[in-house]
Amino acid sequence: MTGKERWGSNLGFVLAAAGSAVGLGNLWGFAYRASQGGGGAFVLLYIAIVLLVCLPLLVAEMVLGRNTGNSPLIAPRRAGGKAWAPLGWLFLLVSVGILSYYIVLMGYAGTTLLKSVLGNLPLDKTEASNYFSSISTGEVSLRGQMFSLAITGGVVAAGIRGGIERLTKWGMPLLFLMLICLALWASFQPNAHEGYAFLFGWDASKLTDPETISNAFKQAFFSIGTGIGAILAYSVYLDSRSAIPEEAVAVVTLDTAVGLIAGCVTFPLVAILGLGDLVGEGSIGTLFSTLPHGLAGPSMNLTGWLVSVLFFALIYIAAITSAISLLEVPVSSLMDQIGLSRSKAVWISIVITALLGLPSAIDVNFLAQADSIMNALLITSGLLLAILMGWSVPSRFKNELEDSKTSKLKINGLLWTLRWISTPIITIGLTVVLEETFRNWQF
Ligand code: TRP
Repeated sequence: MTGKERWGSNLGFVLAAAGSAVGLGNLWGFAYRASQGGGGAFVLLYIAIVLLVCLPLLVAEMVLGRNTGNSPLIAPRRAGGKAWAPLGWLFLLVSVGILSYYIVLMGYAGTTLLKSVLGNLPLDKTEASNYFSSISTGEVSLRGQMFSLAITGGVVAAGIRGGIERLTKWGMPLLFLMLICLALWASFQPNAHEGYAFLFGWDASKLTDPETISNAFKQAFFSIGTGIGAILAYSVYLDSRSAIPEEAVAVVTLDTAVGLIAGCVTFPLVAILGLGDLVGEGSIGTLFSTLPHGLAGPSMNLTGWLVSVLFFALIYIAAITSAISLLEVPVSSLMDQIGLSRSKAVWISIVITALLGLPSAIDVNFLAQADSIMNALLITSGLLLAILMGWSVPSRFKNELEDSKTSKLKINGLLWTLRWISTPIITIGLTVVLEETFRNWQF
């Protein structure tokens, strides 16, 4: 569809796909959802869903992209016929919907990074709660939103190899390095074990708690970033011989490792800084208000400055490499459907994203509501994708993988899992998530 654009190398693709997966979901989302309770049961459910559902689904999504060579808007129709056209629209709707508030969260991270560098973080608890309202409303929030959207648009406009691959090739290794340094630092602090105990504390009854199940599903889908065509859009530029299952395993492993290591930074930090009571309610702002204030506290000095700068720089890099994959969905769809140039498609997409994001930029409660609804739609879209590739056109799934020399055993195993394990589990998960979403609905 887009001429001869291709990834420079398979590693380039894997890093870009891992860049898409590793983002605010791992840092902000993991801390936000895990702090709502569940502990080790949440972590276990999350890992089980990633392996049994998200991994086969990610393979299916990559196959659909490479096999059709079309954008997310057109690929479902191309593969499954006219009846599947609405799925393309759902991909588009949900990716722009998620991006619209993702950019706002990214703005909070950018503002906090700037304040960390300047040494302007809140010093006590009252200041901390005022601090979060000051960055999440009004002009500050809008400025963060516009700036983040401009950077994301700039990278996507520069193209697959010149923008996306170039950024993720240095951004991802840098991010891993920073994260490991922070996790090591945290592990040497005296109260770190309290943080680990909270994150991994075992309570078997939580395994059947609807809130924990719903949170684990949302976290798994959002963090891997599968179900709405973001990785599909990247897979169009894959070499026809690249080993899709192995690449999917690499992406899922990197993402899960980063999620867990990030938890081993945020939870010990909360314990080290004695902020447990502030985190109890597990609000959207946890990451952006409690941690900065703790790090700015009098006991931290230069170490606090360094840790907060590193931590928020890491979050910002992770957010850009994810936001670009979400933006690639409308951009490639506009290019594919109406033949726009890449730069025109970027302009149109970022204007729409900015407008849709305004309510979230002004009101954090709207953002929380949008996140909850978009997550439910993400899982719905994932279920439809599993049905399309597993049940409606399984021969495409098989042929495409056979052509790239994946062993028969692996292909059949993946297809069987997609049909008989992933599809039923997503159906159950979606029921729980929808039930929770409606129950918590606030007007
Ligand atoms: N996975 C990213 C994160 O954890 C966000 C993201 C990127 C995403 N692409 C996606 C979420 C596609 C859902 C669908 O922050």
